[in-house]
Amino acid sequence: MFNNISSKYDRINRVMTLSMDKNWRNTVYNLSMKDNPKKIIDIATGTGDIALCFANDNVEVIGVDNAQMMLDLAKKKSENKQNITFLLEDAENMSFDDNTFDVATVGFGVRNFENLDKGLKEIKRILKPGKKLIILETAVPSFFLFRVGYVIYTKIFVPFLGKIIANNQQAYNYLSNSAEQFPHGKSFKKILKKNGFIEIEINKLNLGIVNIYEAKK
Ligand SMILES: C[S@@+](CC[C@H](N)C(=O)[O-])C[C@H]1O[C@@H](n2cnc3c(N)ncnc32)[C@H](O)[C@@H]1O
Repeated sequence: MFNNISSKYDRINRVMTLSMDKNWRNTVYNLSMKDNPKKIIDIATGTGDIALCFANDNVEVIGVDNAQMMLDLAKKKSENKQNITFLLEDAENMSFDDNTFDVATVGFGVRNFENLDKGLKEIKRILKPGKKLIILETAVPSFFLFRVGYVIYTKIFVPFLGKIIANNQQAYNYLSNSAEQFPHGKSFKKILKKNGFIEIEINKLNLGIVNIYEAKK
């Protein structure tokens, strides 16, 4: 599905989020840089927008995804950025050694994993002890009025955009349905805890339409 929508993915992202996604990714970037990491992995990197935030830093960044056409675009966008590499990898079964990375980031990726627990355990395996996983993921606002607005927006506007820009309403129906159904807030915190992460913090952004989770190995 992501291969099919790859060429339109960035454009729809900008329109769908009214460009707020840039700020969300920047927040992930700032949180990631807090502990002076040397080696960072951006999992489910897609077209590389989170990985590219680190382009001017003295860090080694590996972006991984299992959709080659998303990676092709990421590679194009990162030409001349020596510190960023993109690799075809399945997040649920990666080729890296245990305890390799200082930070792992995942933006709008975990809700697409086939087996969420397996993916989270795999991320924990490749993180160094005491280091952080930072997840940016959709959430549903808890305040009733915001929730109504959110549902109308995601159920009607998002699939409409998918239809007119990517000619793929089905993909964007999936994305908005999965955003609504995927566990968020305390429920997702429980899942992180179950998979062995500790000191989990939730940062709610933009009236609770997205959350950033920080969790330590
Ligand atoms: C909604 S996009 C997010 C892309 C990017 N992180 C961003 O913030 O825009 C989700 C990405 O997750 C990738 N993905 C889903 N399951 C995956 C898996 N098991 N392993 C690696 N990548 C995966 C998809 O190919 C897709 O590129």
